Amino acid sequence: MEKSKSLSERDAKVIWHPYSQMHTAPLSIPIAKAKGAYLYTEDGTAYFDAISSWWVNLHGHSHPYIAESIASQALCLEHVMFAGFTHESAVALGEKLTALTGMDKIFYSDNGSTAVETGLKMALQFWHNTCLPKKKFLSFKNSYHGETFGAMSVSDRNAFNIPFQNHLFPSEHLELPSQGNEEKFLTSLKKTLESQEIAAFIFEPLILGAGGMKTYSPQALSEAIKLCRKYEVLTIADEVMTGFGRTGPLFACDLLEEKPDILCLSKAITGGFLPLGATLCNQKIYDAFLSPSYSKAFLHGHSYTANPLACAAALASLELLLGKPCEAQREMIARSHQAFCKRFHSHPALIRCESLGTILILEYSTAEPSGYLNPIRDRLYRYFMENRILLRPFGNTVHVVPPYCITEEELITIYSHLALSLEKQ
Ligand SMILES: Cc1ncc(COP(=O)(O)O)c(C=O)c1O
Repeated sequence: MEKSKSLSERDAKVIWHPYSQMHTAPLSIPIAKAKGAYLYTEDGTAYFDAISSWWVNLHGHSHPYIAESIASQALCLEHVMFAGFTHESAVALGEKLTALTGMDKIFYSDNGSTAVETGLKMALQFWHNTCLPKKKFLSFKNSYHGETFGAMSVSDRNAFNIPFQNHLFPSEHLELPSQGNEEKFLTSLKKTLESQEIAAFIFEPLILGAGGMKTYSPQALSEAIKLCRKYEVLTIADEVMTGFGRTGPLFACDLLEEKPDILCLSKAITGGFLPLGATLCNQKIYDAFLSPSYSKAFLHGHSYTANPLACAAALASLELLLGKPCEAQREMIARSHQAFCKRFHSHPALIRCESLGTILILEYSTAEPSGYLNPIRDRLYRYFMENRILLRPFGNTVHVVPPYCITEEELITIYSHLALSLEKQ
Protein backbone atom coordinates (compact mmCIF):
# COMPACT_ATOMS: atom_id res chain seq x y z
CA MET A 1 0.00 0.00 0.00
CA GLU A 2 1.41 3.41 -0.97
CA LYS A 3 0.66 5.63 2.02
CA SER A 4 1.35 8.92 0.20
CA LYS A 5 -1.42 8.26 -2.33
CA SER A 6 -5.05 9.11 -1.69
CA LEU A 7 -7.63 6.34 -1.58
CA SER A 8 -9.04 7.56 -4.91
CA GLU A 9 -5.59 7.29 -6.53
CA ARG A 10 -4.96 3.83 -5.10
CA ASP A 11 -8.44 2.86 -6.35
CA ALA A 12 -7.66 4.16 -9.86
CA LYS A 13 -4.56 1.98 -9.97
CA VAL A 14 -6.28 -1.36 -9.28
CA ILE A 15 -10.07 -1.08 -9.43
CA TRP A 16 -12.37 -1.52 -12.44
CA HIS A 17 -15.74 0.04 -11.56
CA PRO A 18 -19.19 -1.05 -12.80
CA TYR A 19 -21.06 0.87 -15.52
CA SER A 20 -18.09 3.21 -15.99
CA GLN A 21 -15.86 4.25 -18.89
CA MET A 22 -12.61 4.04 -16.95
CA HIS A 23 -10.77 6.12 -19.58
CA THR A 24 -12.83 9.23 -18.83
CA ALA A 25 -14.32 8.53 -15.40
CA PRO A 26 -13.29 11.02 -12.72
CA LEU A 27 -11.57 9.65 -9.62
CA SER A 28 -14.04 7.75 -7.42
CA ILE A 29 -15.29 9.49 -4.29
CA PRO A 30 -13.95 7.73 -1.20
CA ILE A 31 -16.69 7.04 1.33
CA ALA A 32 -15.37 6.59 4.85
CA LYS A 33 -18.65 5.90 6.63
CA ALA A 34 -22.42 6.05 6.24
CA LYS A 35 -25.18 6.68 8.73
CA GLY A 36 -28.92 7.08 8.21
CA ALA A 37 -29.53 8.62 4.81
CA TYR A 38 -26.00 10.08 4.51
CA LEU A 39 -22.74 8.93 2.96
CA TYR A 40 -19.66 10.63 4.45
CA THR A 41 -16.45 11.18 2.50
CA GLU A 42 -13.02 11.01 4.11
CA ASP A 43 -13.00 14.80 4.58
CA GLY A 44 -16.42 14.70 6.28
CA THR A 45 -18.59 15.90 3.38
CA ALA A 46 -22.08 14.40 3.70
CA TYR A 47 -24.01 13.29 0.60
CA PHE A 48 -27.70 12.55 0.91
CA ASP A 49 -28.26 9.09 -0.60
CA ALA A 50 -31.51 9.87 -2.47
CA ILE A 51 -31.43 6.65 -4.51
CA SER A 52 -30.70 4.34 -1.57
CA SER A 53 -27.41 3.24 -3.20
CA TRP A 54 -28.94 1.64 -6.30
CA TRP A 55 -32.22 0.96 -4.43
CA VAL A 56 -30.75 -1.49 -1.94
CA ASN A 57 -30.92 0.50 1.28
CA LEU A 58 -34.23 0.53 3.16
CA HIS A 59 -33.92 1.86 6.70
CA GLY A 60 -30.79 4.02 6.43
CA HIS A 61 -27.11 3.11 6.35
CA SER A 62 -25.36 1.16 9.12
CA HIS A 63 -28.65 0.54 10.91
CA PRO A 64 -27.61 -0.79 14.34
CA TYR A 65 -30.37 -3.42 14.57
CA ILE A 66 -29.39 -5.04 11.26
CA ALA A 67 -25.66 -4.68 12.02
CA GLU A 68 -26.10 -6.39 15.40
CA SER A 69 -28.20 -9.19 13.89
CA ILE A 70 -25.43 -9.88 11.36
CA ALA A 71 -22.78 -9.79 14.11
CA SER A 72 -24.60 -12.28 16.35
CA GLN A 73 -25.28 -14.56 13.36
CA ALA A 74 -21.56 -14.38 12.44
CA LEU A 75 -20.55 -15.47 15.93
CA CYS A 76 -22.92 -18.45 15.73
CA LEU A 77 -22.88 -19.70 12.12
CA GLU A 78 -21.27 -17.74 9.28
CA HIS A 79 -22.00 -20.16 6.45
CA VAL A 80 -22.85 -23.73 5.61
CA MET A 81 -23.39 -25.27 2.19
CA PHE A 82 -27.12 -25.44 1.47
CA ALA A 83 -27.45 -28.85 -0.21
CA GLY A 84 -28.23 -31.42 2.45
CA PHE A 85 -28.00 -28.80 5.25
CA THR A 86 -30.22 -26.01 6.51
CA HIS A 87 -30.21 -23.34 9.22
CA GLU A 88 -32.63 -21.29 11.29
CA SER A 89 -32.24 -17.93 9.47
CA ALA A 90 -32.90 -19.40 6.00
CA VAL A 91 -35.97 -21.29 7.21
CA ALA A 92 -37.38 -18.37 9.24
CA LEU A 93 -36.89 -16.01 6.27
CA GLY A 94 -38.47 -18.53 3.90
CA GLU A 95 -41.48 -18.89 6.22
CA LYS A 96 -41.93 -15.12 6.40
CA LEU A 97 -41.47 -14.39 2.68
CA THR A 98 -43.73 -17.20 1.49
CA ALA A 99 -46.44 -16.05 3.93
CA LEU A 100 -46.11 -12.39 2.86
CA THR A 101 -46.12 -13.09 -0.88
CA GLY A 102 -48.60 -15.98 -0.96
CA MET A 103 -46.02 -18.18 -2.70
CA ASP A 104 -45.19 -21.74 -1.61
CA LYS A 105 -41.44 -22.30 -1.96
CA ILE A 106 -38.29 -20.17 -1.91
CA PHE A 107 -34.95 -20.73 -3.68
CA TYR A 108 -32.02 -18.54 -2.56
CA SER A 109 -29.25 -17.04 -4.68
CA ASP A 110 -26.90 -14.03 -4.49
CA ASN A 111 -28.28 -10.95 -6.29
CA GLY A 112 -31.01 -9.65 -8.59
CA SER A 113 -29.60 -11.13 -11.79
CA THR A 114 -29.21 -14.58 -10.26
CA ALA A 115 -32.72 -14.38 -8.75
CA VAL A 116 -34.00 -13.73 -12.31
CA GLU A 117 -31.71 -16.35 -13.86
CA THR A 118 -33.06 -18.90 -11.35
CA GLY A 119 -36.64 -17.95 -12.29
CA LEU A 120 -35.91 -18.33 -16.02
CA LYS A 121 -34.29 -21.74 -15.49
CA MET A 122 -37.20 -22.85 -13.28
CA ALA A 123 -39.64 -21.89 -16.06
CA LEU A 124 -37.66 -23.60 -18.83
CA GLN A 125 -37.15 -26.77 -16.82
CA PHE A 126 -40.82 -26.76 -15.78
CA TRP A 127 -41.70 -27.19 -19.48
CA HIS A 128 -38.83 -29.63 -20.04
CA ASN A 129 -40.05 -31.79 -17.14
CA THR A 130 -43.63 -31.53 -18.39
CA CYS A 131 -42.49 -32.64 -21.88
CA LEU A 132 -43.94 -29.59 -23.65
CA PRO A 133 -41.64 -27.78 -26.09
CA LYS A 134 -42.05 -24.20 -24.79
CA LYS A 135 -38.82 -22.22 -24.95
CA LYS A 136 -39.41 -18.54 -25.68
CA PHE A 137 -39.76 -15.70 -23.17
CA LEU A 138 -41.94 -12.65 -23.45
CA SER A 139 -41.14 -9.34 -21.74
CA PHE A 140 -41.69 -5.60 -22.08
CA LYS A 141 -39.93 -3.18 -24.41
CA ASN A 142 -37.36 -1.22 -22.35
CA SER A 143 -37.38 -3.92 -19.66
CA TYR A 144 -34.23 -4.60 -17.63
CA HIS A 145 -33.77 -7.83 -15.71
CA GLY A 146 -30.05 -7.98 -14.98
CA GLU A 147 -26.60 -8.74 -16.34
CA THR A 148 -26.29 -12.52 -16.60
CA PHE A 149 -26.88 -13.98 -20.07
CA GLY A 150 -30.41 -15.23 -19.41
CA ALA A 151 -31.37 -11.96 -17.73
CA MET A 152 -29.86 -9.97 -20.63
CA SER A 153 -31.66 -12.20 -23.14
CA VAL A 154 -35.11 -11.48 -21.70
CA SER A 155 -34.33 -7.76 -21.26
CA ASP A 156 -34.94 -5.43 -24.18
CA ARG A 157 -31.94 -4.91 -26.43
CA ASN A 158 -30.15 -1.68 -25.52
CA ALA A 159 -26.83 0.16 -25.55
CA PHE A 160 -25.60 -1.92 -22.59
CA ASN A 161 -25.98 -5.34 -24.19
CA ILE A 162 -24.90 -4.53 -27.80
CA PRO A 163 -21.54 -6.42 -27.53
CA PHE A 164 -23.37 -9.59 -26.47
CA GLN A 165 -26.41 -9.52 -28.73
CA ASN A 166 -25.24 -12.35 -31.00
CA HIS A 167 -25.08 -14.57 -27.94
CA LEU A 168 -28.46 -13.75 -26.41
CA PHE A 169 -31.35 -16.14 -26.95
CA PRO A 170 -34.29 -14.54 -28.77
CA SER A 171 -37.23 -13.16 -26.79
CA GLU A 172 -40.34 -11.16 -27.65
CA HIS A 173 -40.81 -7.63 -26.32
CA LEU A 174 -44.25 -6.07 -26.04
CA GLU A 175 -45.11 -2.36 -25.74
CA LEU A 176 -45.95 -1.34 -22.18
CA PRO A 177 -49.67 -0.98 -21.29
CA SER A 178 -49.12 2.69 -20.44
CA GLN A 179 -52.18 4.88 -20.07
CA GLY A 180 -54.38 4.65 -23.16
CA ASN A 181 -52.37 1.72 -24.55
CA GLU A 182 -53.99 -1.06 -22.47
CA GLU A 183 -56.35 -2.47 -25.13
CA LYS A 184 -53.65 -2.45 -27.79
CA PHE A 185 -51.28 -4.23 -25.42
CA LEU A 186 -53.79 -6.95 -24.52
CA THR A 187 -54.60 -7.51 -28.20
CA SER A 188 -50.95 -7.92 -29.16
CA LEU A 189 -50.33 -10.13 -26.10
CA LYS A 190 -53.21 -12.40 -27.13
CA LYS A 191 -51.89 -12.57 -30.68
CA THR A 192 -48.40 -13.49 -29.45
CA LEU A 193 -49.74 -16.13 -27.06
CA GLU A 194 -51.83 -17.66 -29.84
CA SER A 195 -49.12 -17.68 -32.47
CA GLN A 196 -45.99 -18.69 -30.52
CA GLU A 197 -44.91 -21.31 -27.98
CA ILE A 198 -44.18 -18.94 -25.10
CA ALA A 199 -42.64 -20.51 -21.98
CA ALA A 200 -43.09 -17.53 -19.69
CA PHE A 201 -43.90 -13.83 -19.52
CA ILE A 202 -41.43 -11.94 -17.30
CA PHE A 203 -42.28 -8.43 -16.12
CA GLU A 204 -41.33 -5.74 -13.62
CA PRO A 205 -44.75 -5.11 -12.02
CA LEU A 206 -46.19 -1.55 -12.18
CA ILE A 207 -42.95 0.20 -13.15
CA LEU A 208 -39.95 -0.44 -15.39
CA GLY A 209 -36.97 0.62 -13.26
CA ALA A 210 -33.68 0.89 -15.13
CA GLY A 211 -35.64 1.12 -18.40
CA GLY A 212 -36.54 4.71 -17.51
CA MET A 213 -38.91 4.52 -14.51
CA LYS A 214 -41.94 3.98 -16.76
CA THR A 215 -45.19 3.25 -14.94
CA TYR A 216 -48.14 1.29 -16.27
CA SER A 217 -51.55 -0.06 -15.40
CA PRO A 218 -51.91 -2.81 -12.73
CA GLN A 219 -55.31 -3.70 -14.23
CA ALA A 220 -53.74 -4.40 -17.63
CA LEU A 221 -51.05 -6.50 -15.95
CA SER A 222 -53.70 -8.50 -14.04
CA GLU A 223 -55.51 -9.10 -17.34
CA ALA A 224 -52.21 -10.13 -18.94
CA ILE A 225 -51.56 -12.70 -16.19
CA LYS A 226 -55.09 -14.08 -16.66
CA LEU A 227 -54.48 -14.38 -20.40
CA CYS A 228 -51.17 -16.15 -19.77
CA ARG A 229 -52.98 -18.62 -17.47
CA LYS A 230 -55.56 -19.25 -20.19
CA TYR A 231 -52.82 -20.02 -22.74
CA GLU A 232 -50.77 -22.02 -20.21
CA VAL A 233 -47.89 -19.57 -20.18
CA LEU A 234 -46.00 -19.11 -16.89
CA THR A 235 -45.63 -15.66 -15.35
CA ILE A 236 -42.51 -14.33 -13.61
CA ALA A 237 -42.69 -11.12 -11.57
CA ASP A 238 -39.29 -9.43 -11.26
CA GLU A 239 -39.69 -7.47 -8.01
CA VAL A 240 -35.95 -6.95 -7.59
CA MET A 241 -36.54 -3.18 -7.64
CA THR A 242 -40.20 -2.89 -6.60
CA GLY A 243 -40.12 -5.24 -3.60
CA PHE A 244 -40.18 -4.25 0.08
CA GLY A 245 -42.52 -1.29 -0.07
CA ARG A 246 -41.04 0.87 -2.80
CA THR A 247 -44.28 1.16 -4.78
CA GLY A 248 -46.58 1.50 -1.74
CA PRO A 249 -47.68 -2.02 -0.77
CA LEU A 250 -45.03 -4.45 0.51
CA PHE A 251 -44.83 -5.98 -2.97
CA ALA A 252 -46.08 -4.45 -6.23
CA CYS A 253 -47.82 -7.78 -6.94
CA ASP A 254 -50.09 -7.13 -3.93
CA LEU A 255 -51.98 -4.74 -6.23
CA LEU A 256 -52.65 -7.46 -8.81
CA GLU A 257 -55.74 -9.67 -8.89
CA GLU A 258 -53.67 -12.62 -10.07
CA LYS A 259 -50.47 -13.91 -8.49
CA PRO A 260 -47.48 -14.78 -10.69
CA ASP A 261 -46.10 -18.33 -10.78
CA ILE A 262 -42.58 -17.15 -9.95
CA LEU A 263 -41.41 -14.08 -8.02
CA CYS A 264 -37.85 -12.69 -7.97
CA LEU A 265 -36.56 -10.62 -5.04
CA SER A 266 -33.21 -9.06 -4.17
CA LYS A 267 -31.75 -5.55 -3.66
CA ALA A 268 -33.58 -4.23 -0.54
CA ILE A 269 -34.16 -7.74 0.82
CA THR A 270 -31.31 -7.35 3.35
CA GLY A 271 -31.94 -3.65 3.96
CA GLY A 272 -28.90 -2.97 1.78
CA PHE A 273 -26.36 -4.79 3.99
CA LEU A 274 -25.47 -7.97 2.11
CA PRO A 275 -26.11 -9.51 -1.31
CA LEU A 276 -29.00 -11.98 -1.42
CA GLY A 277 -31.44 -13.14 -4.09
CA ALA A 278 -34.65 -15.09 -3.61
CA THR A 279 -36.84 -16.77 -6.24
CA LEU A 280 -40.23 -17.84 -4.95
CA CYS A 281 -42.65 -20.09 -6.77
CA ASN A 282 -46.02 -21.77 -6.39
CA GLN A 283 -46.66 -25.45 -5.72
CA LYS A 284 -47.38 -26.17 -9.39
CA ILE A 285 -43.83 -25.20 -10.39
CA TYR A 286 -42.24 -27.03 -7.46
CA ASP A 287 -44.21 -30.22 -8.06
CA ALA A 288 -43.01 -30.45 -11.67
CA PHE A 289 -39.48 -31.09 -10.36
CA LEU A 290 -40.45 -33.99 -8.06
CA SER A 291 -39.55 -37.44 -9.31
CA PRO A 292 -37.69 -40.54 -8.11
CA SER A 293 -35.02 -39.59 -10.65
CA TYR A 294 -32.36 -36.83 -10.57
CA SER A 295 -33.14 -36.01 -14.18
CA LYS A 296 -36.09 -33.83 -13.14
CA ALA A 297 -34.37 -32.14 -10.18
CA PHE A 298 -33.39 -28.48 -10.26
CA LEU A 299 -29.63 -28.98 -10.43
CA HIS A 300 -28.84 -25.34 -9.85
CA GLY A 301 -27.30 -23.33 -7.00
CA HIS A 302 -24.40 -21.21 -5.76
CA SER A 303 -21.66 -21.63 -3.16
CA TYR A 304 -23.20 -18.90 -1.02
CA THR A 305 -26.84 -20.00 -1.46
CA ALA A 306 -28.83 -18.95 1.66
CA ASN A 307 -25.80 -17.41 3.35
CA PRO A 308 -26.74 -17.16 7.06
CA LEU A 309 -25.39 -13.61 7.46
CA ALA A 310 -27.49 -12.37 4.51
CA CYS A 311 -30.57 -14.24 5.80
CA ALA A 312 -30.09 -12.76 9.29
CA ALA A 313 -29.83 -9.26 7.78
CA ALA A 314 -32.99 -9.91 5.75
CA LEU A 315 -34.91 -11.09 8.84
CA ALA A 316 -33.86 -8.00 10.81
CA SER A 317 -34.71 -5.69 7.90
CA LEU A 318 -38.11 -7.36 7.45
CA GLU A 319 -38.89 -6.91 11.14
CA LEU A 320 -38.21 -3.17 10.82
CA LEU A 321 -40.17 -2.99 7.55
CA LEU A 322 -43.26 -4.59 9.09
CA GLY A 323 -43.25 -2.23 12.09
CA LYS A 324 -45.71 0.67 12.39
CA PRO A 325 -43.00 3.42 12.36
CA CYS A 326 -41.71 2.22 8.98
CA GLU A 327 -45.22 2.04 7.56
CA ALA A 328 -45.87 5.61 8.74
CA GLN A 329 -42.61 6.74 7.11
CA ARG A 330 -43.53 5.14 3.78
CA GLU A 331 -46.92 6.83 3.88
CA MET A 332 -45.30 10.19 4.67
CA ILE A 333 -42.87 9.80 1.72
CA ALA A 334 -45.71 8.80 -0.64
CA ARG A 335 -47.86 11.77 0.49
CA SER A 336 -44.97 14.23 0.13
CA HIS A 337 -44.14 12.93 -3.36
CA GLN A 338 -47.80 13.27 -4.39
CA ALA A 339 -47.89 16.88 -3.16
CA PHE A 340 -44.69 17.62 -5.12
CA CYS A 341 -46.21 16.11 -8.27
CA LYS A 342 -49.37 18.19 -7.84
CA ARG A 343 -47.23 21.34 -7.84
CA PHE A 344 -44.92 20.40 -10.71
CA HIS A 345 -46.82 18.07 -13.02
CA SER A 346 -47.44 20.80 -15.61
CA HIS A 347 -44.04 22.52 -15.29
CA PRO A 348 -42.84 23.50 -18.80
CA ALA A 349 -39.37 22.01 -18.18
CA LEU A 350 -40.90 18.56 -17.56
CA ILE A 351 -42.43 15.93 -19.83
CA ARG A 352 -43.49 13.91 -16.80
CA CYS A 353 -43.68 14.30 -13.05
CA GLU A 354 -45.26 11.37 -11.24
CA SER A 355 -44.90 9.23 -8.17
CA LEU A 356 -45.58 5.62 -7.28
CA GLY A 357 -45.41 4.95 -3.54
CA THR A 358 -41.98 6.07 -2.36
CA ILE A 359 -40.65 6.58 -5.91
CA LEU A 360 -40.66 10.06 -7.46
CA ILE A 361 -40.00 10.48 -11.19
CA LEU A 362 -39.17 13.61 -13.18
CA GLU A 363 -38.62 13.39 -16.94
CA TYR A 364 -36.96 16.58 -18.19
CA SER A 365 -37.95 18.11 -21.48
CA THR A 366 -34.91 18.59 -23.75
CA ALA A 367 -34.17 19.22 -27.43
CA GLU A 368 -32.62 15.73 -27.65
CA PRO A 369 -34.74 12.55 -27.61
CA SER A 370 -35.66 11.05 -24.22
CA GLY A 371 -33.49 8.13 -23.17
CA TYR A 372 -30.42 6.88 -21.39
CA LEU A 373 -27.93 8.70 -23.60
CA ASN A 374 -29.58 12.12 -23.28
CA PRO A 375 -26.70 14.56 -22.53
CA ILE A 376 -28.62 16.42 -19.81
CA ARG A 377 -27.75 13.47 -17.56
CA ASP A 378 -24.22 14.65 -16.73
CA ARG A 379 -25.32 18.21 -16.02
CA LEU A 380 -28.07 17.04 -13.67
CA TYR A 381 -25.78 14.58 -11.90
CA ARG A 382 -23.16 17.29 -11.36
CA TYR A 383 -25.75 19.80 -10.16
CA PHE A 384 -27.15 17.45 -7.52
CA MET A 385 -23.70 16.29 -6.38
CA GLU A 386 -22.56 19.93 -5.99
CA ASN A 387 -25.55 20.28 -3.69
CA ARG A 388 -24.60 17.12 -1.78
CA ILE A 389 -27.45 14.97 -3.10
CA LEU A 390 -26.72 11.64 -4.74
CA LEU A 391 -29.12 11.16 -7.66
CA ARG A 392 -28.19 9.13 -10.73
CA PRO A 393 -30.40 10.15 -13.66
CA PHE A 394 -31.28 7.74 -16.46
CA GLY A 395 -30.59 10.20 -19.28
CA ASN A 396 -33.25 12.90 -18.89
CA THR A 397 -35.19 11.01 -16.18
CA VAL A 398 -34.41 11.65 -12.53
CA HIS A 399 -35.80 9.39 -9.83
CA VAL A 400 -35.82 9.80 -6.07
CA VAL A 401 -35.97 6.50 -4.16
CA PRO A 402 -35.05 7.48 -0.61
CA PRO A 403 -34.28 5.29 2.39
CA TYR A 404 -37.38 5.10 4.61
CA CYS A 405 -35.60 6.93 7.45
CA ILE A 406 -35.76 10.21 5.50
CA THR A 407 -37.42 13.14 7.33
CA GLU A 408 -39.98 15.59 5.92
CA GLU A 409 -37.35 18.35 6.16
CA GLU A 410 -34.85 16.31 4.14
CA LEU A 411 -37.51 15.63 1.52
CA ILE A 412 -38.23 19.37 1.31
CA THR A 413 -34.51 20.04 0.72
CA ILE A 414 -34.43 17.50 -2.11
CA TYR A 415 -37.62 18.94 -3.63
CA SER A 416 -36.19 22.46 -3.53
CA HIS A 417 -33.09 21.32 -5.44
CA LEU A 418 -35.29 19.51 -7.95
CA ALA A 419 -37.26 22.75 -8.39
CA LEU A 420 -34.04 24.76 -8.83
CA SER A 421 -32.76 22.26 -11.38
CA LEU A 422 -35.89 22.97 -13.44
CA GLU A 423 -35.23 26.71 -13.43
CA LYS A 424 -31.78 26.05 -14.88
CA GLN A 425 -33.23 24.40 -18.01
C1 LIG B 1 -35.87 -5.19 -12.09
C2 LIG B 1 -34.44 -5.62 -11.92
N1 LIG B 1 -34.13 -6.92 -12.07
C3 LIG B 1 -32.87 -7.37 -11.92
C4 LIG B 1 -31.86 -6.51 -11.61
C5 LIG B 1 -30.46 -7.02 -11.43
O1 LIG B 1 -30.08 -6.96 -10.09
P1 LIG B 1 -28.53 -7.01 -9.68
O2 LIG B 1 -27.94 -5.70 -10.05
O3 LIG B 1 -28.56 -7.23 -8.19
O4 LIG B 1 -27.93 -8.16 -10.41
C6 LIG B 1 -32.13 -5.14 -11.45
C7 LIG B 1 -31.06 -4.20 -11.14
O5 LIG B 1 -31.20 -3.00 -11.22
C8 LIG B 1 -33.46 -4.69 -11.60
O6 LIG B 1 -33.79 -3.40 -11.47
